[in-house]
Amino acid sequence: MVPQICRRNRFLTVAVCFFVAWLLVQLITTQRCLDQTRLSMVTSNWREHCLQNVVSNLASSGVRSDCIAAVEKLSVGESKPVIYAITPTYARPVQEAELTRLSHTFRLVPRFHWIVVEDSISKTELVSNFLARCGVPYTHLYAATPAELKLGPKDPSWLLPKGVLQRNEGLQWLRANVDKLDPRGVVYFADDDNTYDLRLFEEMRKTVKVSVWPVGLVGGLLVEGPIVRDGRVAGWNAVWKPKRRYPLDMAGFAVSLRLLLDFPEAQFRLRLPRGEQESYLLGQLLAGPHELEPRAENCTQTLVWHTRTQDPKLDQERRLRKAQKARRLKPGAAKPSSQK
Ligand code: UGA
Ligand code: MN
Repeated sequence: MVPQICRRNRFLTVAVCFFVAWLLVQLITTQRCLDQTRLSMVTSNWREHCLQNVVSNLASSGVRSDCIAAVEKLSVGESKPVIYAITPTYARPVQEAELTRLSHTFRLVPRFHWIVVEDSISKTELVSNFLARCGVPYTHLYAATPAELKLGPKDPSWLLPKGVLQRNEGLQWLRANVDKLDPRGVVYFADDDNTYDLRLFEEMRKTVKVSVWPVGLVGGLLVEGPIVRDGRVAGWNAVWKPKRRYPLDMAGFAVSLRLLLDFPEAQFRLRLPRGEQESYLLGQLLAGPHELEPRAENCTQTLVWHTRTQDPKLDQERRLRKAQKARRLKPGAAKPSSQK
């Protein structure tokens, strides 16, 4: 009896020893593994941080945007889908100010390609010079809205659709250049006067077909946007023309490049009732609102605002020019400094 108990005890001791040794080995390997992960996280974060610094230094020193894009590729790798933002823009006193503000946001967005489409019969010097120094990778295009469909200076802003042919030009460029683009790319229609939170761009990168989110200060509301139930769009917080199939603003959705290639004819149209551009495009791409992908915390966050810039009062400009002309005509008068 006694030797049997002794043997069992010896067996138990050996088993416990083995178990403790196994536990120790596991602990040591896990610790090593954790240390290595931490180290590689630190080095990759550090590498990313350094390269991001290089990118922003290059941007502020006016280096060509394709060089910046190449360095940026090193810093963020190929992991993120590229965002292709199409921005229609037109000549007016605030144009350069709007584009400057916009570029300062876009400079902070990695893996971003800006497609700027001028509403003009050719590329203007102002926009060409601006883009060359803006520090954002870009493509510069133009498409003129026919004179009879262009808003006059006294017309109310809602009278005619804006940016239609310019966005179509952007879409056409994407489809024609697809071999040079990121097949996982996401396309966004970014008007030149809106205000964009940087987090919006990370949200839209998740797009499979069409992402949606709320837009602030539009449709007569503080926030207009989808109502989400069980992760799906179940309705809309929209009061202006709520019967539209997709009652949202141009700033409220993004489309995957893949989907735009699957429907190569899909585009906007000049002659449509007011506020129907978005529904017209999405109607060509989706079977219904059930296919929409709610972003921005199930559409509870506002990450873009439909801000509009007031027209500046420039009524003294005419007087100033008149005075300058009179001074120039006066014999012996000093010329204005720009003409020296
Ligand atoms: C609203 C929507 O937010 C726009 O997406 C929509 O295009 C527009 O209505 C419309 O009525 O079609 P809203 O602020 O009234 O926007 O329009 P703007 O910001 O004045 O114009 C939209 C874009 O088109 C801007 O990027 C603007 O620079 C450009 N645009 C405007 C032109 O290219 N040409 C023009 O003659 C006017
Ligand atoms: Mn606008």
